[in-house]
Amino acid sequence: MNNIVLIGFMGSGKTVAGKIVAEKLALRFVDIDKLIEEKQKIPISEIFSTFGEDYFRNLEKEMVTRISNEKNRSIATGGGVVLNPENMVNLRKNGTIIWLAVSPEVARKRTKSDESRPLLHVTYPEKTIEELLSFRESLYAQADFKIETSNLSIDEVASEVLKLGGTRNE
Ligand code: S3P
Repeated sequence: MNNIVLIGFMGSGKTVAGKIVAEKLALRFVDIDKLIEEKQKIPISEIFSTFGEDYFRNLEKEMVTRISNEKNRSIATGGGVVLNPENMVNLRKNGTIIWLAVSPEVARKRTKSDESRPLLHVTYPEKTIEELLSFRESLYAQADFKIETSNLSIDEVASEVLKLGGTRNE
């Protein structure tokens, strides 16, 4: 089966929805950020603070290249995966790409008590979220499908994903 690839901003529910989808379709769940952390043996926030964002983006590109060659995966990506066009080409090879869209307000609410996102370790995260989201909007829009998640529960998001990506590629 084609991979189901979830893209979208921080707090859009990619990881939780991706896990549910994997279970329902008997796919293997993979989380690109998690794999990077396991390989580097340090958290993403520490990769950013010690080596910088560009270094992280390279690790991300390497991991995306590797995972994109696999099949039967439900893949949760990091919110910035769309920044490198090569990532999108790779992810599309064996995958249906689904954008979990989220409003800035909901993204803020869902990421507020979570310290794991280095890009939001700033004085005014609201402003950063708005800026990043508006910059990335057209990049996320390259997805095959878009789901507006702001007013959906995570189970509803997962069932929308299943409707879109749950068809077998004969
Ligand atoms: C990032 C999102 C994070 C993680 C890193 C950078 C981004 O993933 O990859 O902190 O640029 O939006 P999540 O979207 O899973 O939080």
